[in-house]
Amino acid sequence: MSFALAPPPFRPAWHYWRGLLQPGWSPYGNTARLIRREAASADSETLWLKPFERLRDWQPGQHLSFGFEVDGRRFQRSFTLTSLPGQREIAITVRKVAGGRFADWLSEARDGARLQISEPWGGMAFEMPDAPQRMLMAAGSGITAAIAQVRAAAERGQLAGLSLAYWVRERAEACFVEELRALQARFPDFQFRLFLTGEAPAAAHEAEGRLDEATLAALPGSPQGAEVLACGPTGFVARVEALLREAAARIATESFTPPVLRVPDVPAAAVQLTLLKSGRTLSIPTDTPLLAALEAAGLRPEHGCRQGLCGRCTCAKASGVHVDLRDDSAHPEASTSLKLCVSAARTDLAIDL
Ligand SMILES: Cc1cc2nc3c(=O)[nH]c(=O)nc-3n(C[C@H](O)[C@H](O)[C@H](O)COP(=O)(O)OP(=O)(O)OC[C@H]3O[C@@H](n4cnc5c(N)ncnc54)[C@H](O)[C@@H]3O)c2cc1C
Ligand code: FES
Repeated sequence: MSFALAPPPFRPAWHYWRGLLQPGWSPYGNTARLIRREAASADSETLWLKPFERLRDWQPGQHLSFGFEVDGRRFQRSFTLTSLPGQREIAITVRKVAGGRFADWLSEARDGARLQISEPWGGMAFEMPDAPQRMLMAAGSGITAAIAQVRAAAERGQLAGLSLAYWVRERAEACFVEELRALQARFPDFQFRLFLTGEAPAAAHEAEGRLDEATLAALPGSPQGAEVLACGPTGFVARVEALLREAAARIATESFTPPVLRVPDVPAAAVQLTLLKSGRTLSIPTDTPLLAALEAAGLRPEHGCRQGLCGRCTCAKASGVHVDLRDDSAHPEASTSLKLCVSAARTDLAIDL
């Protein structure tokens, strides 16, 4: 899979001509054209996109990384596919974060705007066909992973034993509610409840309160022996794990908010980073993720989520000690791999780049 955003300094002439003959073709990977956008809630939009090259098959709940430019700077963000696999057009639903780079790009984007796209990656899946209950638990933009599962289950006619609990502050922020209520009306075995943390419930499908011991009783579906997929901010998925660990048979979680990277608890120093493929050696600080240190040196290593999730920045390490900044654990073992986005050097390092 290739998703290099930075173009090489030199462009062969055939790149130019092929681009003219086939608008949308890019020598740097697949692209997708924005074909329409729809409001999904007060602060979210669904974007329909047509990839230039058809995506390989994906599983409900998988993500794509998107490359885009704001003020001449290139960025990447990941979004979950909310359309069904097999469709030529794909959809994502984006919550517009105030001051966010992708939100800025979206405010300027017109139909026809292009984004670079990766292949589908990651995602959670139900793995226990015999579980008495399959529970989806979502907060905020985590609903995108849940709606992908619900739509796929509805298409297969497998909504029995499936439940969805969805947390938002106010109902105006909630996406897909009419669709979910229509499914609930058609398939009584499918249970859906919207939890509001900032206003009072006003309908039968609504309940009040953050996820805690008290709201457990209001969950749609019983967690006893259930398989649970939870998606939302880091604190939310941690609470799901803490509250349901005893009862559930399996819990898989995913967070869309970046992990908090710890500052190593040793004084920062400069060390040598040897890049074995290119033969370069750089001096880098020990308190900076390797990906950021390489970018500061003008290099463009392949990467995706920058959160230690997608594995696209994984690189083999030949020697040296690196630290995983998510838990400050030191890894002295040679001939292993590391994720550039969440690892820092503790000693001189040699990596396969
Ligand atoms: C695997 C994966 C799947 C994702 N799927 C979706 C999806 O389907 N729909 C969706 O809307 N988002 C999704 N996200 C989050 C998305 O990638 C972006 O992080 C988010 O849209 C913000 O991007 P931005 O460029 O607008 O903001 P940024 O420029 O990255 O951030 C601007 C400000 O907002 C804060 N911020 C960043 N991300 C969030 C967030 N998620 N919630 C609250 N504050 C934040 C930052 O701390 C910063 O202060 C997913 C993330 C991952 C890792
Ligand atoms: S960029 Fe996704 S794991 Fe590092």
